[in-house]
Amino acid sequence: MTPTSGREKSWVEAAKRVRENAVCGRSGFAVGAALEAADGTIFTGCNVENSTYGLTVCAERVAVWKALSEGVRRFTGIAVVTDAAEPTAPCGACRQILWEFTGDIPVVMETMGGKRKRMSLAALFPEPFEF
Ligand code: THU
Repeated sequence: MTPTSGREKSWVEAAKRVRENAVCGRSGFAVGAALEAADGTIFTGCNVENSTYGLTVCAERVAVWKALSEGVRRFTGIAVVTDAAEPTAPCGACRQILWEFTGDIPVVMETMGGKRKRMSLAALFPEPFEF
């Protein structure tokens, strides 16, 4: 794997910071995401759980919604940080949403313990549903 670029490190740092805001009392699993827009702006998101469980929104989608609602439409990469033993990939729903709104961007997955993985979204989400 190619070394992490300075930009990717800044995504990971932003994801670590926002992860501290995770609303995850139900699962105890805090996730932070940082989505870079084409102009370099970073939009962050944490997971937000609620009493229904099913209405939980993942960190990745929070970041996408924040960016889209600010009128931003072009993206260059995303980092996802968790405290799992191994790097955590975005769930299927987030892969669908990312594919539709960001296209094929690099996905940097890092643990709080420092394990890191990078994959393209196309590799993570082959044969996407498109309409
Ligand atoms: N979660 C995310 O934030 N992103 C993912 O891609 C997978 C799962 C959150 C949802 C829930 O709050 C917690 O992780 C446990 O599933």
